[in-house]
Amino acid sequence: MTDEQKKELFSNLIHKVSQATRPVTQPDSSISSSEAQSGDDADARLQAVCDLLKEEVPHYDWVGFYLVDPNKERELVLGPFAGAPTEHVRIPFGYGICGQAAERKKTFMVPDVAREQNYLSCSPHVKSEIVLPVLRQGEVMGELDIDSNTINAFSEEDRAFLLKVCYAATRLLQRSLKARKTPYP
Ligand code: SME
Repeated sequence: MTDEQKKELFSNLIHKVSQATRPVTQPDSSISSSEAQSGDDADARLQAVCDLLKEEVPHYDWVGFYLVDPNKERELVLGPFAGAPTEHVRIPFGYGICGQAAERKKTFMVPDVAREQNYLSCSPHVKSEIVLPVLRQGEVMGELDIDSNTINAFSEEDRAFLLKVCYAATRLLQRSLKARKTPYP
């Protein structure tokens, strides 16, 4: 897909993402009345974002959110995702592309995963990957991770679009984290 084609696709898609993430009732300062329900709702809506991206973008073959486990320091835990199940349900900071993105608080765009030393493989079909950390008050609270079965699938168009997706999903990630009071399995 050319950057021009991406531009057109992403400009349509960001509206759907905004709709999926838009606050339904009140802003997040008043969510404490039913945290568990809010968390469920947040997860369902994050799931909708993953499904939307995977369905509508041909080169997105796996789309998922990782959250920083509030019950364990410096460890990511898999949240809503679309695509094949992965064995990498938990990833310590520093490990793999996801762990490095969390540790360094920066986006990683990997054109050819076969050339990466510090990489956790989910499937032999995956050829390239992009991981964007989602920050709140300077701290990582989660990530958006996308795998592609196409080599060198991601460009600056993807990065710019996915930054907007992360921004739109920030409040939902925050709510999802708040609702996760008990330790993850
Ligand atoms: N490839 C990632 C692991 C997560 S999967 O892509 C779902 C990494 O190296 O951190």
